[in-house]
Amino acid sequence: MAGRHKITVVGAGNVGATAAHWIAAKELADVVLVDIVEGTPQGKSLDLAQAAPIDGFDVKLVGANSYEETANSDVIIITAGLPRKPGMSRDDLLKTNSDIVGGVTDQVAKYSPNAFIIVVSNPLDAMTQVAFVRSGFPKNRVMGMAGVLDSARMRCFIAEELNVSVENVTAFVLGGHGDTMVPLPRYSTVAGIPITELIPKDRLDAIINRTANGGAEIVGLLKTGSAFYAPSLGAVEMAEAILKDKKKILPCAVYLEGEYGISNLFVGVPVKLGKNGIEQIIEISLTNEERAALQKSAGAVQELIDVMGI
Ligand code: LAC
Repeated sequence: MAGRHKITVVGAGNVGATAAHWIAAKELADVVLVDIVEGTPQGKSLDLAQAAPIDGFDVKLVGANSYEETANSDVIIITAGLPRKPGMSRDDLLKTNSDIVGGVTDQVAKYSPNAFIIVVSNPLDAMTQVAFVRSGFPKNRVMGMAGVLDSARMRCFIAEELNVSVENVTAFVLGGHGDTMVPLPRYSTVAGIPITELIPKDRLDAIINRTANGGAEIVGLLKTGSAFYAPSLGAVEMAEAILKDKKKILPCAVYLEGEYGISNLFVGVPVKLGKNGIEQIIEISLTNEERAALQKSAGAVQELIDVMGI
């Protein structure tokens, strides 16, 4: 029998610690929580381990300030970096977080050369590209979590608007994880019914706008940090799809080489996730307007890549 899976979560802040919580509660894998702050990953792991007897999950939880313990992880979730403060865009974090994500990637790639890397740090698409370049891993093993979060936000707002179960709602959001993201109402449905048939245009426009600004709405409310419950669960859903070979179709930031007319850039598109990581990039047909919005969003990501010179 194969042993348990192992996931390393880098960054023991709100996103990282909550990712560890979701992983443990799902009994998905043993978890190594890593952070540079002494005591924080150890303390949070110990606290979570002490919840295990109450909920009945059998996973090993370890906290560390270095990377030896992370060796041979199946999946690495990178959440390290600074979150936004009110008034900041995700792009304002570029320099600081690219240094942090680059350094973290060197370490995790050294200790777990066969792992899948899921990046959550912002600015998301650019940070995923940093992890891709620094790890030297093949493109099927490096991906960013944004589309799962952005589409979950849209699903939440649609379910609320129509007073239906969130389980009935699917939503599609493409593009970079920023103000230029591209929610696609045409491909969003409630029990198979396109939402364009259920929600009047002005209400739909309000939902699209709220989705695109979903992260900023929470930063504005929290004032001292950004969202973490939904972002962390988005990353865990991706890890689960890979570890259980679910062949799940999810919107993820992946390296495009000509798909959607975009090259050498990480941008959010629908992909199939299974035991080989990104097993397929799914190209859906877009209207001219949708295609132009996606190009604009990719352009915004490209600008950050150009600034970093990678
Ligand atoms: C958000 C941040 C995490 O969208 O990017 O909430």
